[in-house]
Amino acid sequence: MKDVEGKVAFITGGASGVGFGMAQAFASAGMKVMIADIRQDHIDQAMDHFSNTNLDVRSIKVDITDRKAMAEAADEVEAAFGKVHLLCNNAGVNLFNDIVEATYDDYDWIMGVNLGGVINGVVSFLPKLRKHGEGGHICNTGSMASFISGPGAGIYTAAKFGVRGLSEALRYALGPHDIGVSLVCPGLVKSHIYDSDAIRPKDLAQTGGSPSKEFMTRLAQVHDAGMEPLEIGEKILKGIRNNDEFIFPHPEFREELSEIFDEVLSYLPDEPTPPARMEVEIGRRKRKAEAKAAIKNH
Ligand code: NAI
Repeated sequence: MKDVEGKVAFITGGASGVGFGMAQAFASAGMKVMIADIRQDHIDQAMDHFSNTNLDVRSIKVDITDRKAMAEAADEVEAAFGKVHLLCNNAGVNLFNDIVEATYDDYDWIMGVNLGGVINGVVSFLPKLRKHGEGGHICNTGSMASFISGPGAGIYTAAKFGVRGLSEALRYALGPHDIGVSLVCPGLVKSHIYDSDAIRPKDLAQTGGSPSKEFMTRLAQVHDAGMEPLEIGEKILKGIRNNDEFIFPHPEFREELSEIFDEVLSYLPDEPTPPARMEVEIGRRKRKAEAKAAIKNH
């Protein structure tokens, strides 16, 4: 989506952190923006910021795990702005417990918001992105945890790997329909994600254990060292304009990614592939290359 001026963006989690950075960058580039968030205090702070500008930013309170509310939000954006071109499935939460102790509630909450919320965004908004014929874009916020795992944040990592798989599949499927898809993979960003517990639903409250107060204080300090929301918002806008498959705002992960891919390759068996099987693979790769070539940058 090279030309963004006058186009309409819907950003989940748009009232804080990465989403707020996107809202600022998009609105400054002349887009009409609807920020959607579950936290009224975050919405109030964000709207307070925009009330001092002449940028066209509006807000809606919505829980992305609520499918009916998401469908209503999609209708509301259309009613407010006429059309919607850019869907940013960005809202996310993290849980800083040990996965060994995790309960079903821990899984349902983290998977429900981080992966389920993206699915709900796609199902609610895709028909609206397609119907005006002006092209569109879906930008999903993954994480470096879409590629890199470690001893912590296991459920979050599972969800973010899922967002990566979904985004790549959608990119192939939607390219021919003039809808681009990007996956944003942030590293550390100055945000409030450490405060996710404040919005944990009461009906998913059974947890396998909470981190110590000291850990949470340290976590807030760690996030304070992160990238500024506006900086990441501008990088995301650039990636959307280029229809980049991946938007990596943070350079500091190059070495680790390279190690991961080398390690994965080292596990492949070093033996010849039977010709009949190789033929199937060659056919599949050809179809993939054709699908890739059909992805336009509109
Ligand atoms: P944040 O907490 O500052 O902003 C997220 C916003 O999403 C909040 O305003 C929150 O109220 C909202 N939200 C949470 N659950 C929601 C729900 N069910 N429905 C609607 N809104 C909801 O956090 P941040 O960091 O800006 O998070 C944005 C995205 O960036 C997330 O997907 C997160 O996983 C991702 N990310 C963040 C990183 C960081 O270092 N901050 C690193 C990598 C990825």
